[in-house]
Amino acid sequence: MANDASAAFDTLSPAVSKGSLADPFTPPADSSLWRKNFLLGAATASYQIEGAVDEDGRLPSIWDNFSATPGKVLAGDTGAVACDHYHRWEADIDMLASLGLEGYRLSIAWPRVMDAAGRPNRKGLDFYKRLLNRLKEKGITSFVTLYHWDLPQHLEDRGGWLNRDTAYRFADYTDLMSRELAGTVDAWATLNEPWCSAYLGYGNGHHAPGLANDRFATQAMHHLLLAHGLAIPVLRGNDPASQKGIVANIGRGTANSDSAADQRAAHLFEVQHNAWILDPLLKGAYPQDLFELWPGTEPLVLDGDMQTIAAPLDFLGINYYFRTNVASDGAHGFRDVPLEGVERTQMGWEVHPDGLRDLLTGFKKTYHNLPPIYITENGMASDDKVIDGHVDDTQRISFLKRHLAAVDQAIKAGVDVRGYFLWSLMDNFEWAFGYERRFGVVHVDYSTQKRTVKRSAELVTKFLKERKAKV
Ligand code: FCB
Repeated sequence: MANDASAAFDTLSPAVSKGSLADPFTPPADSSLWRKNFLLGAATASYQIEGAVDEDGRLPSIWDNFSATPGKVLAGDTGAVACDHYHRWEADIDMLASLGLEGYRLSIAWPRVMDAAGRPNRKGLDFYKRLLNRLKEKGITSFVTLYHWDLPQHLEDRGGWLNRDTAYRFADYTDLMSRELAGTVDAWATLNEPWCSAYLGYGNGHHAPGLANDRFATQAMHHLLLAHGLAIPVLRGNDPASQKGIVANIGRGTANSDSAADQRAAHLFEVQHNAWILDPLLKGAYPQDLFELWPGTEPLVLDGDMQTIAAPLDFLGINYYFRTNVASDGAHGFRDVPLEGVERTQMGWEVHPDGLRDLLTGFKKTYHNLPPIYITENGMASDDKVIDGHVDDTQRISFLKRHLAAVDQAIKAGVDVRGYFLWSLMDNFEWAFGYERRFGVVHVDYSTQKRTVKRSAELVTKFLKERKAKV
């Protein structure tokens, strides 16, 4: 039971705490991660962990419906129970604290806290109040994402993110949350990965609500960004002391050859994945090449929208997972050319830490007003098993070490990165892949809901303890 998460701080197995085990994680002495103000935390999202989808007045979300549709999620999994965090939140927060993690990024389920008429649902709100107060008591910095993909179904029934009105409903929801929760949240993120909401939800249909149309994707993207821009001043008004930002997924695209066509393809990949979101936020305009290349997909943009979207940010959240190698598609776009012989994760994603460093240093050059950055997600899935009470997630330990080293290199190159959140605190519902893909630093046995701290988490804890003890 040495590393049963219910035991107090000494989740460290004797081998790790005595230092008799080789430590393949702890950063070198000159790493900026030793700075005590570099926030190291873990992240989760409401639909992926909470369960309790019918409880205390929660309304259906687009993910309830999507995951209940046969063929949409691997093995027919749904978030109906997930990690049962809605009932186990106290033990989960104790576990977070026992791991010594200093920050927790969570999201609020919109359908849990507001009814269809826009009135507060007290029971749902109380859940988050209790949770945030507990984090405060434990001295854990809270990053709260307002929208991590679980749109109330009643809004989808009126067009969801294709309907401009949803952006205004999001501003109302933001207003309610920031009035109710002001003072308990350290940092607010409006949206998680609008690119994924737009492209996977409305462009290729791999995610809820499952629509597949290029023009839908760009219009949804614009409305999501508009929602973000409308929400920022609301947050500033209601909760002035907190930090306000947004979380963007970014992707590294590299060229398959030196040919001009392939180089251009890699550039376009990054325009499509990164500039598409960062340009409007930081330059107040969509990148030119985007719609020249994909004509006819321009979203409808009304006067004033771009100024709204470019509202100043206190921080930018960056989620990074992998690199994509691309070549010209022979016309004007790009196509993936997966590299052979490279390291991959259970998702099939290539492990490429340098991509994180290169993107961060590139953004610093491109955007003179780049806000302070938090890596709001980074991590990997592996087919982890509990053996004799332990989970030896060797690849994850190495993955985390190398990505943290990439962050350190970016900091040393002058990028203002202030923290890093592991994705994820615990194994959870990985969207279209259900429960098969395990991203946690804590293992979850879904038949018993038992949590088991993985070796990676133990080593992070060991490092944090050592850092704390340093004078
Ligand atoms: C990101 C999502 C997060 C998780 C990771 C693996 O795109 O924000 O919820 O699923 O991928």
